[in-house]
Amino acid sequence: MPTPHQPPLQIGLAGFGNVGAGVFKNLEKNRDLLRQRIGRDLEIRRIVVRDPAKVRDIAPPQALVSTRLEDLLEDEAIEIVVELIGGTVQAFDLVKGALERGKTVVTGNKALLAERGRELFAVAEAKKTPIYFEAAVAGGIPIIKTVQESLVGNHIQSVAGIINGTCNYILTRMTEAGLDYRDALAEAQQLGYAEADPTLDVNGWDAAHKAIILASLSYGSWVPTDEIHVEGIERVTRRDIDFASRLGYIVKLLGIIRLHPADSAIEVRVQPSLIPRSHILASVNGVYNAILIRGDVVGETLFYGSGAGQDPTSSSVISDLADAALWRNNCEGHTGFVPHGLYGKPLPVDESVSKYYLRIEAQDEPGVLAQIARVLGDHGIGILSVIQPEDFDHEVAAIVLMLHYATFGTVRTALARLRELPCVREEPVLMRVEAL
Ligand code: HSE
Repeated sequence: MPTPHQPPLQIGLAGFGNVGAGVFKNLEKNRDLLRQRIGRDLEIRRIVVRDPAKVRDIAPPQALVSTRLEDLLEDEAIEIVVELIGGTVQAFDLVKGALERGKTVVTGNKALLAERGRELFAVAEAKKTPIYFEAAVAGGIPIIKTVQESLVGNHIQSVAGIINGTCNYILTRMTEAGLDYRDALAEAQQLGYAEADPTLDVNGWDAAHKAIILASLSYGSWVPTDEIHVEGIERVTRRDIDFASRLGYIVKLLGIIRLHPADSAIEVRVQPSLIPRSHILASVNGVYNAILIRGDVVGETLFYGSGAGQDPTSSSVISDLADAALWRNNCEGHTGFVPHGLYGKPLPVDESVSKYYLRIEAQDEPGVLAQIARVLGDHGIGILSVIQPEDFDHEVAAIVLMLHYATFGTVRTALARLRELPCVREEPVLMRVEAL
């Protein structure tokens, strides 16, 4: 076993929640292994917590605890700042302050990078010190390193990901146990898979932050948060899941990232989508995440694993710490994301094309189907199939249509016309059918 020839690397840890405590625990657990592999001890020198009196399953050593984030910046011995406090205000100041002092940063904060990554990576580049962020996307799956390093020789053609475990758990339970949305969400909360306030997960924005990071890495320039289309799973019903199933599809919340080679536009969107039951992503269930990446050289690759949780996410933080330690020894290798401006602007979602699932609750009387078909026909939208099950309310008929490839904008315009038909009784449900 090589003896460490350097003094321990001093780490300042901000945040001792689930992941922070996991980093502390697992650095202890695998201390010898890490020393052997890195040639240097990783030592936590200070831990900043919001409430030092809080009772925790894993208690931080009191001598290391502080409540001042500035302690991490002011201590010159700290070479690496690990930001696990979340949010985008204090976290931004901490990360920027650390970079400005030449410290290396490790963060798992997807919202921070998606919203303010452009500013932070500019500071990192100016100061020649990296930001590592493996834990920001898909928890324990090593997807950042894969895109930045392992697939460096590829033009990334597309990325399709199940990148929110909470939503995947809820949709899985709705599909497999027939739960409705509220009950599946309550179950996820009871099991600790969903936060007490699950808004960011179920409204699609947690997945959107991850999609923005993956799109930016894949295509070389920052994708602005206000230029992508995001829909969550709050309006997905058991009824639509059942209809999708009859048609041979499974409903998943997908992050879709795709390059349009003709004009170098980048399609980035998060939407509940139908995928064929036979597709490999359809069998990714429960809290698991999976990301399918197509590159022009490698072809199709799939990455599967735990997208959240104390141990998986801390595995990614520790991997970043190891990279940061090696970087500080040699000052070479990847320095985090450096925008290289390879491709152009995000594609407006109205120009994106797919097939669609459309459910319309309409008055059950002669001529209704013809009225609906006429609106779709007037907009040049083809119908692939129609079902009108007999087993529902006699006054109102559920009409389920599978629509041919069309732009989202065209379908949205047609939807506005359909809503105005007197025979249409409820807000129609539209989901995309993804060709993966
Ligand atoms: N809450 C996220 C999820 C994990 O459910 O996948 C952290 O982004």
